[in-house]
Amino acid sequence: MIELAFSILSADFAHLADEIDRAVHGGGTIVHVDVMDGHFVPNITFGPPVVKAIRPLTKLPLDCHLMIENPDEYIPAFAAAGADMVSVHVEACRHLNRTLQLIADHGMLPGVVINPATPVEALSEVLSMVHHVLVMSVNPGFGGQKFLPRSVERIAHLRRLRHELGLNYRIEVDGGVAHDTVASVVEAGAEMLVAGSAIFAPGQPQKTEENAREFLRVARAAI
Ligand code: DX5
Ligand code: ZN
Repeated sequence: MIELAFSILSADFAHLADEIDRAVHGGGTIVHVDVMDGHFVPNITFGPPVVKAIRPLTKLPLDCHLMIENPDEYIPAFAAAGADMVSVHVEACRHLNRTLQLIADHGMLPGVVINPATPVEALSEVLSMVHHVLVMSVNPGFGGQKFLPRSVERIAHLRRLRHELGLNYRIEVDGGVAHDTVASVVEAGAEMLVAGSAIFAPGQPQKTEENAREFLRVARAAI
């Protein structure tokens, strides 16, 4: 099932409730929350208080992408704030198995994220533990970057592995996924499509719903 996980990083933070409504009307079914700490990535965004503030606005799953060091320390706070899915970077976790287990123990769906320069093989020991694998198709830290084409082969590789290993993790892709790149990632096997700047246009809130609808139309046409 193809789903749009719209990234609120590109939304108008002063009107987050309206922005979420518009993306949902356009067909978005997952709220993607980009958490950055200024250490793991060169940018700072938001944390559990923002997750808590948006929790009552929607019944849709809140998909928290943690681009932070020491994620274990914050997992209880994300659970208490109402997160449904939490993804951690393989590059940020010294004891990845423990961290994924901690997410599951807090009643959330664990995901693992992989940066463009990390070999897919680095995930082999944890694939059976995760609900989803998030393939970064840009270097994390900012919205609006250019899609890295090698990501397509990495997604296809994860789909092959899933089949070979008899697993059922979902494949998510994040970064530069837009109307012109989405078909290639869907063809390769991505099912949870993160998009920020392709959905939210600064100063043009009336476009959000249409952007989401068109994005999903192009994505579903590629299956
Ligand atoms: C980047 C974030 C992404 C970002 C995507 O570090 O993880 O979720 O918001 O933004 P776009 O869709 O604009 O590349
Ligand atoms: Zn993200």
